[in-house]
Amino acid sequence: MKNKIVINLNPGIPALPKAEDKTKVDVRYILISPYVSAHIFFDPKLLEMVYEVEEPFLNEEEKSLLREIEEGMKEVININVLTEKTQEAMIEYLDKTARFLISELGLKVSEESYRKMFYYFFRDFIGLNEIEPLVRDYFIEDIECNGINTPIYIVHRVYRNMRTNIVYKDIDYLASFVEKLAQRCGKYISYASPLLDGSLPDGSRVNATYTTDVTSKGPTFTIRKFTKVPWTPTQLIALNTLSPEMLAYLWMLIQYKFNILITGGTASGKTTLLNAIAFFIPPEARVVSIEDTREINLARENWLPSVARTAIGMGKVGEVDLFSLLKNSFRQNPDYVIVGEVRGKEAFVLFQGMASGHASISTMHADSVDTVIKRLETPPIDLSPTLVNVLDAVCIMTHAVVRKHETRRLREIVEVVNVNPDGVALTNTPFIWNPKDDRFYFKKDSKVFEKIGNRYGITREELLQEFARRTRILYELYKRRVFGFEDVQKIINEYYKNPSGILSSLGLPKI
Ligand SMILES: Nc1ncnc2c1ncn2[C@@H]1O[C@H](COP(=O)(O)OP(=O)(O)OP(=O)(O)O)[C@@H](O)[C@H]1O
Ligand SMILES: [Mg+2]
Repeated sequence: MKNKIVINLNPGIPALPKAEDKTKVDVRYILISPYVSAHIFFDPKLLEMVYEVEEPFLNEEEKSLLREIEEGMKEVININVLTEKTQEAMIEYLDKTARFLISELGLKVSEESYRKMFYYFFRDFIGLNEIEPLVRDYFIEDIECNGINTPIYIVHRVYRNMRTNIVYKDIDYLASFVEKLAQRCGKYISYASPLLDGSLPDGSRVNATYTTDVTSKGPTFTIRKFTKVPWTPTQLIALNTLSPEMLAYLWMLIQYKFNILITGGTASGKTTLLNAIAFFIPPEARVVSIEDTREINLARENWLPSVARTAIGMGKVGEVDLFSLLKNSFRQNPDYVIVGEVRGKEAFVLFQGMASGHASISTMHADSVDTVIKRLETPPIDLSPTLVNVLDAVCIMTHAVVRKHETRRLREIVEVVNVNPDGVALTNTPFIWNPKDDRFYFKKDSKVFEKIGNRYGITREELLQEFARRTRILYELYKRRVFGFEDVQKIINEYYKNPSGILSSLGLPKI
């Protein structure tokens, strides 16, 4: 009996270094274990960074065997059966079919070659062929193909636009691939209806064109990846990403319209935390969100999402940037503005908006409050200390390895107490995570609570009691395993209208 084939499509998300100097970039990470890696490096000939997919190497003999076996498999495999099963079952089915065919066709294939070829069976029958590794890369936001004999371009979360080493050379092959994309979207594309606008089972958007006349470069497609349903606050408690107190604190800040910035390194869970705390926005509030890639997902009606449009690989035509989106969104007079990631000049518009009473929640790539303040105060953002002062709290997310597991923790919540005219910030840190015992500590002294008290005329005792009630609610929901997107949102919304009702339904002391 042969060893079972195991393919790991989620080999973990590495922390990638930022490209301070792009000529020095040279990183490699696993996409599909044990087979495929991404290699990103500066190409001295092209004078740009490139993205290479490294797949198992096949020699000429193996390649021709692969073609022969795949031709045979196309005849015997029922694609519908394939896409309905679990991944493990699909792999088993492919393995059985391939081995059966090899013996039927009387082919000689060593186990070593077979294992390499198996990756290609998987990629071509279960996956999306050449681009399957790109689809699997957490860091890739967009995949764009502009026809044959031109490389596929991607947009990478850390290194932005890059060409890949994937090139379609055959117009008919590309056309049939676009047909496959359409089929995966449950749609149909043909000469008669040559435009596809659909979504893949994982929620990614697909646009494609089907032109194969000789003058064009052939069919094209763009895939804009979309990350699924967000994690709820209670799920983050279950993951021990933060404590119920931290969440209750953020809930108070959000209700009273204080401004929160979430920072941390790449893939440290910033957007995930942002999505989770957005559950606390009062149900009747008007929310506008602005982002580069669709990642923000809220269970509410009064929400206007917008996504910046980049025109990759084709100059700047059709571009709508965060700056103009944000300017436009303030005309809608939102109560809350959510900015997916603050990078450049749009920060100015955001902070002005905050200064004029619109609350905001946003993320920024930085690993400490000092870095955040420095980034805000120097070009290209270049805010005055007075504007930086409107920021109330900074949540710092971090990658952490706890008991050999890669996890995410909310390392600190830092309050910006005051930024003096020289730009130096006075801060207070009410919450901190201790890596030694993997616990969260609350220093019962919050300057923001003082601000809430002063601004809304609420006593410290009242605030602390309310904070304690919310902590208990969140903890109770976590204990009862109330994790669902809709369920959690319903309870939080209801709490705004009828707090005693929620408390009694959870068996907690009344107000
Ligand atoms: N609290 C968490 N616990 C465990 N894993 C998490 C947590 N938050 C996020 N992740 C994992 O890390 C990945 C990255 O999360 P997320 O997109 O929120 O990070 P980010 O900091 O916004 O990344 P980027 O720097 O790309 O904007 C997620 O797909 C998820 O698999
Ligand atoms: Mg993010």
